[in-house]
Amino acid sequence: MEQPAKKIIIALDGFSSCGKSTFAKSIAQRLGYIFIDTGAMYRAVTLYALEHGAIRSGIVDEEAIIKQLGDISITFRFNPLRGASDIYVNGDLVEGKIRTIEVSNCVSPVSAIPQVREKLVAMQQEMGRKRGVVMDGRDIGTVVFPDAELKIFMTADAKVRAERRFAELTAKGDKVSFEEVLENVVSRDKADMSRAVSPLQQAEDAIVLDNSYMTVEEQMEWFDNEFKRVQEALA
Ligand code: DC
Repeated sequence: MEQPAKKIIIALDGFSSCGKSTFAKSIAQRLGYIFIDTGAMYRAVTLYALEHGAIRSGIVDEEAIIKQLGDISITFRFNPLRGASDIYVNGDLVEGKIRTIEVSNCVSPVSAIPQVREKLVAMQQEMGRKRGVVMDGRDIGTVVFPDAELKIFMTADAKVRAERRFAELTAKGDKVSFEEVLENVVSRDKADMSRAVSPLQQAEDAIVLDNSYMTVEEQMEWFDNEFKRVQEALA
């Protein structure tokens, strides 16, 4: 008789705007797993800092953010319309507000503050304690869950990623230029890879998925094979 699939942790790391969330959401739905978007958590802290005077004119006041951390309570609630969880800060729905270019421009320095990472990593580890999660971020396979059974490192050409983000932002009515978006993608790659604490890096045991020229269906087929391989190894 076939064994039921073992609940595992799927760690999904990689560059910004390479379709990690779409991919993570699809595989979580396929498997009945919980999808956790850790980037949304760093964005939520950044939004709070912007709205409470800890970031002014793009200048990040680290001390002020560290002081604010105790006042920030982050929760997720499943939204069946999106098929994913919405993020709340102190009970307020901020899912839409965290995805503006203003937040994107300030999130890298905020996510480089060790105390911010410490708090969010502890929350993420707690959320994945029972396994059965797909967690997307930058340091999931290296720091948050080094013991994840399946680690995927996603990447795509910077221009392709900027085109995707540009289409997303303009569809929402944001007035941005393609150059501005490309500049944001490239500078965030650099900042994410070069920060001192938990830089974006591929875990040694991660498998690479470059989806620059892959359809969603092709990515799902690729994933099904990898998931099967892991389940066979665990059986
Ligand atoms: O995935 P995203 O683009 O929404 O992430 C926003 C920012 O948060 C990104 O610039 C890097 C940071 N981040 C991080 O440092 N660690 C994570 N696990 C997830 C995101």
